[in-house]
Amino acid sequence: MKILVTGGAGFIGSNFVYYLLKNHLEDTVVCLDDLTYAGNLSTLKEALENDRFTFVKGNIADRDLVDSLFDRERPDVVVNFAAESHVDRSILDPGLFLTTNVMGTQVMMDACRRYKTGRFHQVSTDEVYGDLPLDRPDLFFTEQTPIHASSPYSASKASADLLAGAYHRTYGLPVTISRCSNNYGPFHFPEKLIPLIITRALADETIPVYGTGENVRDWLYVEDHCSAIDLIIRKGTPGEVYNIGGHNERTNIDVVKTVLAELGKPESLITYVTDRPGHDMRYAIDPAKIGRELGWQPTTRFEEGIAKTVRWYLEHREWWEEIISGEYRNYYEKMYASR
Ligand code: NAD
Ligand code: TYD
Repeated sequence: MKILVTGGAGFIGSNFVYYLLKNHLEDTVVCLDDLTYAGNLSTLKEALENDRFTFVKGNIADRDLVDSLFDRERPDVVVNFAAESHVDRSILDPGLFLTTNVMGTQVMMDACRRYKTGRFHQVSTDEVYGDLPLDRPDLFFTEQTPIHASSPYSASKASADLLAGAYHRTYGLPVTISRCSNNYGPFHFPEKLIPLIITRALADETIPVYGTGENVRDWLYVEDHCSAIDLIIRKGTPGEVYNIGGHNERTNIDVVKTVLAELGKPESLITYVTDRPGHDMRYAIDPAKIGRELGWQPTTRFEEGIAKTVRWYLEHREWWEEIISGEYRNYYEKMYASR
């Protein structure tokens, strides 16, 4: 199969590219990525040496570019990772999230319709369900949970999901959607919580914890997310939504302490800062459907995944040091100075 992966120079997309190249020697992979602040060609260095891999720089919302790419490549499957992905940035600049996450998804689906692509897979998020209360540990997000987005980021992802569902129903486009919980692992951009803790703690800098640190996220090692998407594009049913998660809920403060302990750094680095506006309290995925219907199970426990992730950041300093020495410094200053 020829698989077009959008956003493959970002965190999860790049891990998925490597997953495909390693596990499906019969497949070829084309990556379309606009190399925004979050995309990095050095992330794809090893993939670029593989003759089953092609990289194309371009914006998923650029209709002419996408059409000529489809005309040339005729992919069998499209997996759409490309997105603006950071909640805090969406609070500062929502417009870009609509252009990329909603309009970009529409452009990709229009191309799939025109070229009769065998599958369009939309990589979505558990954040489209809104949040759960902390005092109801019995509640989980299922595929039937109503969409109830809180941030401009999650609203844009929810909009794209609704559009994908409509393209399936109205035009018969073979769409699948996956909604995964928070990922962590190699190539995670340092603006997100876990790599932010690692990169700042290694420099003995403070770790900003929003609000009380009691918010709960449901963490999944990125390779487990990749194996789930891989199963969905091969065995999933068009028109269906699949939740992905590993029942690994942690409070933010627990995550911070776990990572600091793994690094051998003191908890005195923790600094409580002003909360994120509209901050979701708890995410918790019920992954029963994908387990039952496709036989998917996560394989990496949190402690093991954190140890692997910390080791990766220690062994790949050049990757993240280059990022945090550039434009990222201005971002950090702007985002955290007044907190
Ligand atoms: P990321 O920000 O690390 O990477 C996004 C990639 O998309 C970058 O390479 C960027 O250059 C590219 N991109 C952005 N706008 C583009 C455009 N207009 N055209 C082409 N390329 C563009 O994001 P991520 O964390 O890897 O997330 C990937 C996808 O997975 C997103 O759709 C996100 O909503 C979803 N998701 C993420 C998580 C998580 O924990 N990170 C969890 C569930 C779902
Ligand atoms: P993040 O990695 O931004 O993912 P998301 O908001 O999509 O879940 O944040 C994870 C949690 O960590 C979230 O509850 C916000 C919190 N957080 C902090 O406390 N401090 C930080 O500096 C960041 C970036 C996040």
